[in-house]
Formats: sequence, structure tokens, C-alpha cells
Amino acid sequence: MLTLRTIAELREHLNARSDATIGLVPTMGALHEGHLSLLRLAAADNDIVVISLFVNPTQFAANEDLSTYPRDEARDARLAAAAGATILFAPSAEEIYPDGFATVVEVSGLTEPLCGATRGSQHFRGVTTVVAKLFNIVGPDNAYFGQKDAQQVVVIKRMVRDLDFPVHIVVGPTVREPDGLAMSSRNAYLDAKARERALGLSRALASAQSTLDAGTRDARTVAAAARTTLAEHGIEPEYTELVAPETLIPVEVVDDDVLLAIAARVGSARLIDNAILKPRK
Ligand code: PAJ
Repeated sequence: MLTLRTIAELREHLNARSDATIGLVPTMGALHEGHLSLLRLAAADNDIVVISLFVNPTQFAANEDLSTYPRDEARDARLAAAAGATILFAPSAEEIYPDGFATVVEVSGLTEPLCGATRGSQHFRGVTTVVAKLFNIVGPDNAYFGQKDAQQVVVIKRMVRDLDFPVHIVVGPTVREPDGLAMSSRNAYLDAKARERALGLSRALASAQSTLDAGTRDARTVAAAARTTLAEHGIEPEYTELVAPETLIPVEVVDDDVLLAIAARVGSARLIDNAILKPRK
């Protein structure tokens, strides 16, 4: 695996192999099985697998964890290579945002609810701007994102459609620890007690599905079941919402697949989880 830090070097390398198919896996590093599962998908489908490793400052609010976000490039490089990455693109912040940088990409509507409302509008603006740049820099045939960040997937798919990026978006399933906790770089912030409480998120998703299985179709009843489970774990969520999976519009009656998205602060970590719930047919 080659490590490249500048856009010029990366372009030169990729231009020399213009017949090869390229898969891109954008990440902020602190790699875990969730990221590695996306790399394996990419390695199965493409000749070249580029993993980008960039803790993107523009998607963090001033009060968030940009300065403490876990960083270990040597470890990430080893894991990425073993999972099939052929190029690690690890640019500096100045390489991505040179002096005078003034352009943003913003997807309206889809970025306003859920994490847009709780983290602020800079979050998805930062995500779409950096992902658009990565698409332009790498020119991937396929780009891989995790369902763990369900709203991010919806927003990026809309950006790709609206701006005609010639890339196919592949979504990988959420990878979990054996006890159900969704893998996240931010799980590193959990102490033993918070790690135990964090199970409330995946258990709340399961309670909500059980409530649907029992025959209710009332979204408020389903969300209340999820909140009860969260409360049993001492968690007061930032949001617990049932929304339509493609439009993120709140659902009142569950008569089709619905996205249950949860965000909560547990100890010093802000965690998110989600599931596509199915009504009883
Ligand atoms: P990051 O949080 O590092 O995640 C990189 C990719 O890994 C995202 O597509 C995310 O959805 C996926 N991922 C994270 N945890 C996962 C899990 N448990 N199972 C499956 N996939 C998982 O998301 C970002 O970085 C950034 O916003 C980025 C897209 C790189 C833009 O800066």
C-alpha cells in the first residue's frame, strides 16, 4: 500500500492507471471493523482501493471533539493494507483547505433534521464539501459508506444525484460488537460504565422492532418503547425519531419500512445508531 499526501501525487498515480477501476472509502481514521468491512467490499469490486484518512475540521462544531479525535496513522495504515487498500490518501488540512478556500457544497432539507438539528448546519456542509472534493480528487467508480451513518448516506446520495457525480454509492451494513454496540471511533471515549450504558442504543432499536412486531403501527408508541429502553440505561437521547428512509420526513403511522435513528450522549461520547424497522405485514 502506498501512502500519498498531496492531490498532485495522487492524481499522477491514478492517471498512470487510467484503465483501472477505483473504489474510494472516505474515513477519518481510528479504523475499526466497520471501516474495514467497507474496504473489503471495495477490494472485491475494484482494481485500486483508495482509503482517505482525513479528520475533516469543517464538519466539527467549535465545541466538538476535533482536537481529541483518536489519531494513529501507523495503526490505520497496517489495518487498511490488510483489508485490501492499495492507496492511503492522508492529506494535511492545508492540502484540502488552502488559504482562501471559499466554496461549500450544501444539500438543503435532508441536512436539517436529526444530526443537522443537534450538531448544527456546519456538520453536513463540512461532510458534503469534503466528500465532493474527494470525489473530484480521486474520480472513483465506486464509493463506500456505512449505514451506521444513515443520514450521511441519504445526504451524499442526493448530492451525487443533484450534481451528477459519475460515481456509484455502495452502502455497507452497520458492523457491531458481539453485544450489539455499533462500532464507532468514538467508542474509544467510553469508560467501563459508559460502555455498559451504551448498549441502551442497540437495545432501544430492538425494543422498537418488538413493539412493531406486537402489532402497533403508531410511530409515537414505537418511539416511546425505544425511549423507555434508553431511560433504563440512564440515557436521555438527543433524538429518537422514526422517519421515512429516503426523505427523512417524520412518520406517524408505520405502514412501510421506517428508519429509527437515535443520537445520545453517553459519558463523554456522542453516539448514534439506527435501524430500518419493518411493520408486521
Ligand atoms: P468515519 O466516521 O471515519 O466513517 C467512515 C465510514 O465508515 C463512513 O461511511 C461510516 O458510515 C462508516 N462506518 C463507521 N462505523 C461503521 C460501522 N459500525 N459499520 C459500518 N460502517 C461504519 O463518516 C465519516 O468518517 C466522515 O463523515 C467522512 C464521510 C469520512 C467525511 O469526512
